[in-house]
Amino acid sequence: MSEGFVELTVNGAPQALWAQESATLLQVLREILGLTGTKNGCETGHCGACTVWIDDVPRLACLTPVGSVAGSRITTVEGLGAWWEESHPSSHYHPVQTAFVEFGAVQCGFCTPGMLMAAAALLRDEPLPTEQEILERLAGHLCRCTGYEQIVRAIRQAALTEVKEL
Ligand code: FES
Ligand code: FES
Repeated sequence: MSEGFVELTVNGAPQALWAQESATLLQVLREILGLTGTKNGCETGHCGACTVWIDDVPRLACLTPVGSVAGSRITTVEGLGAWWEESHPSSHYHPVQTAFVEFGAVQCGFCTPGMLMAAAALLRDEPLPTEQEILERLAGHLCRCTGYEQIVRAIRQAALTEVKEL
């Protein structure tokens, strides 16, 4: 199994990492970079807890060999606020982060990082999604606590906040 340096940009910072090329992006983020906000729920692509952005597209880090994303720009939940702040300097948090807290969309919090990354990507693609569109986008994200209702309400609120800010 080959190993070597993999260069990535993670949350805006260039990284050169020594890793097995077959190591997953999830392993590298959590075990080498200490970015444990990205959760390991199943490691088999079934829960959505490991969702990050690869070149701004939401992807499952547990199914992504790090060698396949060399040279890419990775954004994790730890970098979501800073990503938002680049275009909205008055706010340190993405509106979905604020709305999740406001609407009680976080209970144990295990699914939350993946939900936030999926929701923020949805609002970038579709600024005012319908409830159906939200549910479709969250279809691969499991939450054992909330019943999803507060999560959907939070995302709708975040959409309204974003639209007001445009
Ligand atoms: S940890 Fe990746 S989908 Fe569950
Ligand atoms: S808040 Fe506990 S799994 Fe979603």
